[in-house]
Amino acid sequence: MTKQVRSMTPHGGTLINRELKGTMREAVLEKAYILPKVYLSSMAMSDLEMIATGALSPLTGFMGRETYNSVVETMHLPSGLAWTIPVTLPVAKELADELPLDSEVALVERTGDGENIMGVLQLAEKFPYDKEREAAEVYRTTEDAHPGVARLYRQGDILLAGDIWLLNRPSHVPFPEFQRDPLQTRQYFRDKGWRRVVAFQTRNPIHRAHEYLQKVAMEVVDGLLLHPLVGQTKADDIPADVRMRSYQVVLDVYYPKDRVLLSVFPAAMRYAGPREAIFHAIARQNYGCTHFIVGRDHAGVGNYYGTYDAQLIFDEFAPDELAITPLFFEHAFYCRKCGTVTTSKTCPHGKEDHIFLSGTQVRKLLAEGKQLPVEFTRPEVSQVLIEGMRNHRQS
Ligand code: ADX
Repeated sequence: MTKQVRSMTPHGGTLINRELKGTMREAVLEKAYILPKVYLSSMAMSDLEMIATGALSPLTGFMGRETYNSVVETMHLPSGLAWTIPVTLPVAKELADELPLDSEVALVERTGDGENIMGVLQLAEKFPYDKEREAAEVYRTTEDAHPGVARLYRQGDILLAGDIWLLNRPSHVPFPEFQRDPLQTRQYFRDKGWRRVVAFQTRNPIHRAHEYLQKVAMEVVDGLLLHPLVGQTKADDIPADVRMRSYQVVLDVYYPKDRVLLSVFPAAMRYAGPREAIFHAIARQNYGCTHFIVGRDHAGVGNYYGTYDAQLIFDEFAPDELAITPLFFEHAFYCRKCGTVTTSKTCPHGKEDHIFLSGTQVRKLLAEGKQLPVEFTRPEVSQVLIEGMRNHRQS
């Protein structure tokens, strides 16, 4: 008899599904052609898709004023449920002025050769908001040198709000073979009989420290969801296609095939550090995971956050507010004396025995076509990165 495994409860209790299919979809799509249009940014496209698939449960649309204020100020939805990141639809004031309330708006992607009507918004509210306050509260800085804050300052001055329906996925689905909605990851875990599943968020190629974190976690759970973020990232992050290849070559050789699911996370990066760590954790709960890895400077950028701020923020929530269990890791590094990747929790040796490589050093070595030290990155990954960066420079 096969083992019956019950899935992790989604945040708020119900997995949201706002994707229309079949005749309903056709009927709404036909109507949508004559609706006023809002063109979506890359981040709004990601958010729309994730709301519709339930990755952002319990959200059913873009946030209205009360929800937005509550999230920015209290890190909770008005219902009292934990939520740390505003999910909003900003537009220019001139456009917002033209859109009547209590009517529908088409949410449109500009494609290379035309348009893709991705969804409809039931426009319930439009309101101005204080960008500096959002920056200070959510990003903990008002400096526009922060990429998330810079994007916030660039975006439209009015937020459109209301429930959405998804009609079409983005025209370009990155890595379709690794595309799995929350319903599908949940089904996969059930089929595998995985009761405890740890999720790993990443926006970088896999290096030895990542592997260490994942494998330590895998010792105490049934499976790993390797869940690289493939939505928009900042220009100097390694492109998603190169990263995906790096995961594949490492999984092929160094991971047990039946204990890992590689699947993409369609979100855009906000670089909001601690608040984004909670957001990432909640989303992974919705994908059916029970545990979530948070290491050093999770979702951080530059020196805006303390090394462990993204862990400390979990203490600001009562233990029963977040159903997913965070697994905190200290900064991992290779120690020559230990002969392995380790952290200061288990390694007694000094800094002189530890190998650290900064992002700048990594980029420099790769640009020169040089392998990264094997203690830092598996040789297979170095090769993928060197070739990937060369191809991207040429294209
Ligand atoms: S992130 O923006 O997605 O957080 P990254 O892909 O670098 O960036 O990190 C993925 C996860 O691994 C995060 O939880 C991060 O905290 C953790 N991490 C990355 N490098 C290390 C390291 N050397 N030691 C401990 N944790 C790390």
